[in-house]
Amino acid sequence: MLPAMSHRTTAVDPGLLAYLAVRTAQEDRVLVELRAAAVAAGLPEIWIAPEQASLLAILVRAAGARTVVEVGTLAGYSAIWLARALPAGGRLHTIELEPKCARFARTWLQRAGVADRVEVHEGDARAVLPRFAAASVDVVFVDADKEGYPVYLEQGLRILRPGGLFLADNAFAFGEVLAPGSADAGVAVLRRFNDLVAARADLQAVIVPLGDGCWVGVKTEDSGARAR
Ligand code: DHB
Ligand code: MG
Repeated sequence: MLPAMSHRTTAVDPGLLAYLAVRTAQEDRVLVELRAAAVAAGLPEIWIAPEQASLLAILVRAAGARTVVEVGTLAGYSAIWLARALPAGGRLHTIELEPKCARFARTWLQRAGVADRVEVHEGDARAVLPRFAAASVDVVFVDADKEGYPVYLEQGLRILRPGGLFLADNAFAFGEVLAPGSADAGVAVLRRFNDLVAARADLQAVIVPLGDGCWVGVKTEDSGARAR
């Protein structure tokens, strides 16, 4: 047995969350207007939190990512953050099943001035992801139908290069990951997904407690060399 480790963990309460949220990149006017327009258009209000979006943008920049794949475009909110973090010549592929969402996102990607570096793939990610070559992508961000998460994990790791980043929203399952007896099918699959991610030998990952819990993982070169 290893000796018990001593460390301090500070729970992120609403006060601390507000403290950190105002100390990272803020939404600009386009993103604020996008959210209002999405509500007016009847889109579900389930985009990621700005501080979580800022984390994704930081990771894309730090990785020097040139090719990013997003599963689940919805209104295009996170796509704009991801696209803005790309270098010149970089490309974001974002996959959306719902034509109404894809249309809305295209409009707002244009308004945000990033349409030239974003391709909206309209269709089922189960069909679109297999079109990407193995080890061809720098960052994958999953934020789509929860039933598909296990497949998006498999496909995401296939298309990621070693050293590439695997990111996924809703690790806390809408706050219900620990709720006993939650009958929600999405919660159940997210629990299973979290266990699948944690058990992957080819991924070192941690849930960052921003928004609804954000998986941040790196695809390891050597599946035997995983450090917990
Ligand atoms: C839901 C989906 C999401 O991706 C999210 O971040 C929050 C809620 C949902 O399906 O209810
Ligand atoms: Mg989400």
